[in-house]
Amino acid sequence: MSDNYVRIFDTTLRDGEQSPGASLTSNEKLEIARGLEKLGVDVIEAGFPAASPDDLEAVRRIAKEIGNSTESEPPTICGLARTIKSDIDAAWEAIQHAKKPRIHTFLATSEIHMKHKLRMDPEEVVDKVKEMVGYAKTFCDDIEFSPEDAGRSDPEFLYLVLGEAIKAGATTLNIPDTVGYTTPKEFGDLIAGIMENTPGIEKAIVSVHCHDDLGLATANTLAGLQAGARQAEVTINGIGERAGNTSLEEIAMALQTRNHVYNLETGIDSKQITRMSRTVSNYTGMSVQPNKAIVGANAFAHEAGIHQDGMLKEQSTYEIMTPEAVGLNRSSLVLGKHSGRHALKVRLIELGYEIDGEELKTVFKRFKDLADKKKIITDADLEALAEDQVYQAKELYRLDGLQVASGTMGLPTATVRMLGPDGELHVQAAIGTGPVDAVYKAIDEIVQMPNVLLEFHINAVTEGIDAIGEVTVRLKPQDGTIPKRTSPQSGEERRRTFGGYGAHTDIIVASAKAYIAGLNKLLTTSGRHGAVEVVSEVGA
Ligand code: KIV
Ligand code: ZN
Repeated sequence: MSDNYVRIFDTTLRDGEQSPGASLTSNEKLEIARGLEKLGVDVIEAGFPAASPDDLEAVRRIAKEIGNSTESEPPTICGLARTIKSDIDAAWEAIQHAKKPRIHTFLATSEIHMKHKLRMDPEEVVDKVKEMVGYAKTFCDDIEFSPEDAGRSDPEFLYLVLGEAIKAGATTLNIPDTVGYTTPKEFGDLIAGIMENTPGIEKAIVSVHCHDDLGLATANTLAGLQAGARQAEVTINGIGERAGNTSLEEIAMALQTRNHVYNLETGIDSKQITRMSRTVSNYTGMSVQPNKAIVGANAFAHEAGIHQDGMLKEQSTYEIMTPEAVGLNRSSLVLGKHSGRHALKVRLIELGYEIDGEELKTVFKRFKDLADKKKIITDADLEALAEDQVYQAKELYRLDGLQVASGTMGLPTATVRMLGPDGELHVQAAIGTGPVDAVYKAIDEIVQMPNVLLEFHINAVTEGIDAIGEVTVRLKPQDGTIPKRTSPQSGEERRRTFGGYGAHTDIIVASAKAYIAGLNKLLTTSGRHGAVEVVSEVGA
């Protein structure tokens, strides 16, 4: 590995999934991990196994299935643990099946955290770090240690703690700006100081982990890399606690596009970025803001006439990187009404979806229906169809038919027909304040999974009145239906919320599908209907 190589440590499944509203089922985590491997990340932080038995099991599956993949060198699979023996045991239990396992343990070092959260004095913190890094080292060689809230810690104290962590066996020292407080100059200086003053630092890799509370996470991460860090901790779409973490796509594209400034390289295949962003957004139900760098819907849109004119004459006038570089295809007409199933399959593979058998049959039928309604079928349409299929594939409840009556006269009414977990047919009618409310009430009557609808987003995939509509929802289960899990930083018990995604040319149908997808996740996680998750073959 060259001195200029930056390891990409993806924590979408740990710090990202920890954020409110981003709960994922274990199948979804596995699919995301599979995508991350394709994307070329070096380390996948697969979760915090001590949070709950479900979390441990999800990390174990990722370690076994992704951490052992034979296609190429598998990524390192990492499990987070507090500096507590039982956490480290749980992390090891979960990751031990990976070819390259890593235990990541952390303890706060800032005065504020030591005094108010840990109630430990600095000497006790140093002793705990020595003891627990040493304990983790008895299980595996690859140990990462993070001094939590390093951004607000006394640098002299950090040099001491980090030096002791290295002596106890830490191989990666991760420097978190936990509360997103530092500025790029401060953070760069902090890393430079650590590189210069920590005893034994030449034996370890220095890593950076920034939060985006002041919108500085990417700038701080880049400053840390310029100061000598060679691992960046990031998440897809920048999801994470509060304002989120540094986003993977921003770091990967900044290093690639401005290579002559940074002279640093990564193993990321940037063409996978758009697909990964959509996958994470659809699974978590957390939509990406339209003006988000690299992956926002408007990131490559050129609306202003003067810009469009410039673009037509010479692309580089207003584009510093091509959409193709991040896997966003410009082609508009890809397939038409007369295209066959094979052509559809090939195009889907090009777009990154390996869909076969019955699932391909269903997507093909929907493609034909769409081609009847819509003259131009774009890659975005195909992606929406494929994703809708992938996300609904292993559902317990399935939409079988839907009729709504709404408008200014009479009460909005919906009749919903659904297939249940054992193939039984349910039909239910309901009235509501609008057509979506009526549909959701009818579905609630059938599924009987009490929840609160926290968010509802609707988005047109392409321009035009005939566009496919995508709907994402976020649901909160009623207290007690789903076990809570422990937050690694605060130790508090947190309630999980779940996202759902649906796509259809009829937005009421898309809304119903999104809601059912979210409910299916609640049911799966609650264990009702003896629901056991099945590993999806899609993309395997
Ligand atoms: O932000 C943080 O401090 C963390 C640590 C667990 C590394 O996520
Ligand atoms: Zn963090």
